[in-house]
Parts: sequence; structure tokens; C-alpha cells
Amino acid sequence: MDQDIKKNILSISTDTLNGKYHIKNDFARSILNYPAMMVPSVQEPIIEYLSMALNNNVSLLDPFVGASNTLVTGMKYGMNVCGQDINPLSILISQVKTSYYSIEELIDAQKRLIDTIKNDNLNSIEIDFFNIDKWFTKNSQVELSKIYRAVNKEASLKIRKFFWVVIAETIRLTSNDRTSTFKMHIRSIEEINQRFVSPIKTFIKVSHNSIESLTKYIHVINENGYLQKGKYSKNIDIIWGDTNLGINTKKTFNLLVTSPPYGDNHTTVTYGQFSYLPLQWIPSEDIDNNITIDYLRTIQEIDSKSLGGKSKINTKEIEEQIFCKSNTLKDFISQFKNEEREKTKKVSRFVYDLDKSIDNILLKMRKNSFLVWTIGNRNVNKKIVRNDLILNELFKFKKIDLFTDLEREIMSKRMPRRNNFSSMMNKEKILIYKKTQ
Ligand SMILES: C[S@@+](CC[C@H](N)C(=O)[O-])C[C@H]1O[C@@H](n2cnc3c(N)ncnc32)[C@H](O)[C@@H]1O
Repeated sequence: MDQDIKKNILSISTDTLNGKYHIKNDFARSILNYPAMMVPSVQEPIIEYLSMALNNNVSLLDPFVGASNTLVTGMKYGMNVCGQDINPLSILISQVKTSYYSIEELIDAQKRLIDTIKNDNLNSIEIDFFNIDKWFTKNSQVELSKIYRAVNKEASLKIRKFFWVVIAETIRLTSNDRTSTFKMHIRSIEEINQRFVSPIKTFIKVSHNSIESLTKYIHVINENGYLQKGKYSKNIDIIWGDTNLGINTKKTFNLLVTSPPYGDNHTTVTYGQFSYLPLQWIPSEDIDNNITIDYLRTIQEIDSKSLGGKSKINTKEIEEQIFCKSNTLKDFISQFKNEEREKTKKVSRFVYDLDKSIDNILLKMRKNSFLVWTIGNRNVNKKIVRNDLILNELFKFKKIDLFTDLEREIMSKRMPRRNNFSSMMNKEKILIYKKTQ
């Protein structure tokens, strides 16, 4: 049986794995350009084969859910789905992508909003935060405030959530922050002065595309027979939480599909910084009342709470605990001389947090469950951190062997090729484990 599953998985073509057949808008993927999103068409055959192996009775967990691309792929196959993430923007986008919306309710709401925005003659600005004038021109602040007032007026929370996501993408496209990097990086004064952006026009265009994209995806779920009385027929849980501390549900799962960060957020992908400006314009009570971090306190707040971020434990203690679990990590860190060691501390801290997260995850995984991890290696000071080998060793220490693995080129994933600390690799591994006890 296991041999057949492996054979099926290994038969997935290189083109599929490399995202050749990927369609940008599929699975409502484009409604918010969240960083480092998985490509659903790459995961889909793996999810499909493992679903068959689990007799099509699957409860799927993604403990680093990001923009929920794993969950929406699972929903196409009628799975119970659960996603957790520390970033409130991830929670909002995930709530929207896993909800049922009819095209009529969205189009009616869009018309209402456009009318309200056009009839709003106020010039007052609804939001204030440190350096707002640096990140938004006055005109953008006025236009975004009109959109904000209109969305806030909507009676339905579900509708407001959808249009908060539209605002998030509008802000990404119209603020003075560059779109070419996830770190907050201001455009030059000349560029800002020459650039004409209208948040209202962008909002209308983005809402149009998002309605089309989301309703197309919902149509697929309906065609597959998983909608009943305007609701997804299985369970959906979207949970705000720190996976390093635990998975905040009593439920258990037989499939995990995830792509964790590749390292600490500050030096790899700054999910928190990416979310900082949009989150200023979205009322926290409309996202989730269980969020306990003060995520708008500083630009770095979310990133420093994420895997590999600030830690109360000192590096020596961390390394003592983690080196015995991964020789690859130990050998990697040993290559560096004292003055270079500062940069490698973040690598040890990340692996230490990842290891704790795996322990929390395993508590929720049933006997004979499968765990699919997509992870890439990275460079630190021109030396490769072999995250793939490290992950294998962490699992081996927990007496879980690799079931099978695949490799893919990252062509269709939104990643920075290079940043000022480390460059990202252009290949990643899909490592599949089976928890047999
Ligand atoms: C590579 S992204 C996931 C992308 C996702 N697979 C998708 O397709 O959109 C990694 C996610 O891990 C989240 N993350 C980082 N540290 C976390 C933690 N301690 N607990 C929960 N989520 C965390 C980040 O916020 C980010 O959304």
C-alpha cells in the first residue's frame, strides 16, 4: 500500500512540480499578493494521492497557513480544513478565501460601496499612525478614508472582511512602499511626485478582479458537490496563534500540508512588514478578537514574534539543546568564526523554534497520518543552510522517517531572489513524512 502511494507521488511530472500549468488566478490565489504563496496546482496532485490513501476522509492542518492556498486546495477535495498563523493579515485573507460568497451579494455590495464612496465629500482622514505622511500621499489618505468609511458602514461582517482584503491589496499597490520587496522600503521623492495613483480607482479594479476570482473558485467547490445550503459541507477552522506555543484547537488531523518560513522573518521573508500598512487600515475587531499581540506597536512586531524571532533563551542554551538533534545545523554553525557568529544565531534560533513547533504539531497528528513539508534552503554569508537535511534530522530524532521526497524549481512562487542578508535558493524540497505511531 505505502509502495503504491510512493509510486503515485513520484510519478508527478517535473512540469507540474515546477508550476508550468499554474494559472495565476486559480483558487482565488490572486486576491491578495501575500508573500511566498504556495502554488495550488503543485500541491494538488500530492493532496489528491494522499487523500485517496486516507480513503477520502481527511482532516487537513496547515500550521503556517499564510494565504490559505493549502486549505482551498484541500476544500476542492472535500476535506475538513484547519489553518493557523501568527499574522492577522493571513487570518483575514484565510477567512475570506474559505467562506462562501454568492456573486450577487458581492456585486450588490460593490455597487453600494462605489455609490457611498462617490457621494462622500468629506476630506477628513480616518487613520493616524507614526509616519503616515511618509507612507501615503495626502490624496491617498483622503481616498483611502472614503473607502474605509464606506466599508465600515456595511452591516455584514462577512462582506466587510471581503472588502478589507480588497483594501489590503489596494494599499499594497498605492502606498509609497515599493512593491518589489516585502521589507518596507520607501520610493524616492521623485518617483512619489511623478507617480499618479488613485486608491479609489485601484479599489474598484481590485474588487472587480477579486469577485471574479473568488466566485470562480466557489463554483469549483459547488461543481465538486461540497456546497450545501450555501455553506461548505465540511469543517473549516481559521485560528490565530503562535505555532511555536501550540496549535489552538482540540481537533486532530490525518494530513498536514504546509510551507513554513525558511528562516527568521527579518532576514528571509518579512511577512509582518508586508502586512504593517494594510493592517493600519483594517479594524482589528473585524479580524479576530482572540489576537493577543499588539501587532501595530512597531513595524517589526509580527516578525519578531514569528519563528526565529526574539527569544528569552540565550543562544548558548538554544545551541546546546538543538545541536544534538541536527548535526547538519551543528556543522553549519561551526564553519563561522567568532565575529561572524552574530548572523548565525538567528539560524539556530529558527531551527530551535521550528523543532518546538513540530512537537506541538505532532500532538495533533493521528497515527498513520502524512505530513507534507515544502521547504527551501537558504544562504547565510554565502554558505548554504540545508533546511531540508535539518528537517529530516529533527524528524528522525522524533523517530519519524522520511516517507518520500520531491524537488521543484521555484518559478511561480512570489519570493525575493535576493535580499541584503541572504539570498534565497531557487529550488525547494517537498518532504513527506508518515507518523506511524
Ligand atoms: C511560507 S508562508 C506560508 C505560505 C502559505 N503556504 C501560502 O500558500 O500562502 C509562512 C507563514 O508562516 C507564518 N508564521 C511564521 N511564524 C509563525 C508562528 N510562530 N506561528 C504561526 N505562523 C507563523 C507566517 O506569518 C507566514 O504566513
